[in-house]
Amino acid sequence: MSRFVLIESGEELSAETEGRLRDAGGPVALRLLDEEPPFHEYPILYVEAPMVTRRARGLVLCRATDGYALRAAGEVPDGALARVVALEQRSTVFPVGRAPLRWLQPRWLARALRVCEILNRFHHPLTPPIFLGSADACIEGVRAKYGNPVEVSEYRRQALGGAEPEELEFVRAHVKPGGRLLVIGCGAGREALDFARAGHRVTGIDLVPAMIEAARQLAREAGLAIEFRVRSVTDLDEPPGSYDAVYLGSPLHHIPGRAQRIAMLARIRRALSPDGVLLVIVAYRDCRPWSRSRLVDVLRRVGARVLGPGRVSEPGDGWMREVSQASDPQTVIFFHDFDGPDDLRGELERAGFAGGEVKPGWWVCRPSGRVP
Ligand SMILES: C[S@@+](CC[C@H](N)C(=O)[O-])C[C@H]1O[C@@H](n2cnc3c(N)ncnc32)[C@H](O)[C@@H]1O
Repeated sequence: MSRFVLIESGEELSAETEGRLRDAGGPVALRLLDEEPPFHEYPILYVEAPMVTRRARGLVLCRATDGYALRAAGEVPDGALARVVALEQRSTVFPVGRAPLRWLQPRWLARALRVCEILNRFHHPLTPPIFLGSADACIEGVRAKYGNPVEVSEYRRQALGGAEPEELEFVRAHVKPGGRLLVIGCGAGREALDFARAGHRVTGIDLVPAMIEAARQLAREAGLAIEFRVRSVTDLDEPPGSYDAVYLGSPLHHIPGRAQRIAMLARIRRALSPDGVLLVIVAYRDCRPWSRSRLVDVLRRVGARVLGPGRVSEPGDGWMREVSQASDPQTVIFFHDFDGPDDLRGELERAGFAGGEVKPGWWVCRPSGRVP
């Protein structure tokens, strides 16, 4: 059984929202929330009501005991809601409502799409990318994506909801009371506002001017004295020892190139007091040994040897489509996934940090004696 979200409204498909499929008068985009083999690689579906007849071919979205399911039209009993007209994977939309894809049974359809997708990548090498373009262009792409007014208003909405309890506890446990805390990639101030409420002296930086404007406005309204600045963490140039703590989340994933990430971490280290602390929250990539990403990694290693370092993308590099529920999935931005704790530890140590995880992906690091 699967769960789906109506992409346009952000609501989950349920008995209350099913009517939107009928009322739309055309295809409706749904996101698959959990994996339904064999379609877990096609997380966006376009469906169109009304339902086809029992004898029809193709894929159908239907009601199931605990949610919804995709079935071959020929097998569809009662509870069918809409026929699937297209499936989207990353940058590619497959029109499965039309022949010849429409004639395939789901298990053959999944295989056929996989072949189409691989062939498609020869002229559209999007994910994972072998060539990324310049680092500056990647960062500009990140700025443009988060600078989209739709993202700014979504992050503003999230900022009104405040930081998660685990985030507050993480900072409370590792930053001294009233300490000077730099929040990198503060967005509209979701965590920064609550860290200031907890008594820390907070500075927030972000790449996107509109995010900083939203954060300043929320701080003013809340009567909080927080310094917000437009700045890329790659250009961080604070006097040594300016902060007792630095809080770093997703911007670390948006910096292309191991060398550039290490240089950026070294800048953070300089900005910290000698007994300061760097708190990092990251996600690790989860891919199987024979996945496409691993095969592309082999090509990348070969490419780096033949063309020289910095000419091709690195293992873990990829594109990201959605940075919030409101994202336009057509605009992709750079995202680097770490392979696991050892991968990240290597970068932190090269930048002069020592530390470890307090739980998966949550790191507490301190400047080590080793100056990079
Ligand atoms: C996923 S959002 C998180 C925003 C905020 N921390 C929150 O949780 O609501 C990531 C933020 O990092 C910012 N960002 C990305 N790359 C950055 C960079 N190189 N320097 C500074 N900020 C960056 C983006 O503009 C965006 O606002």
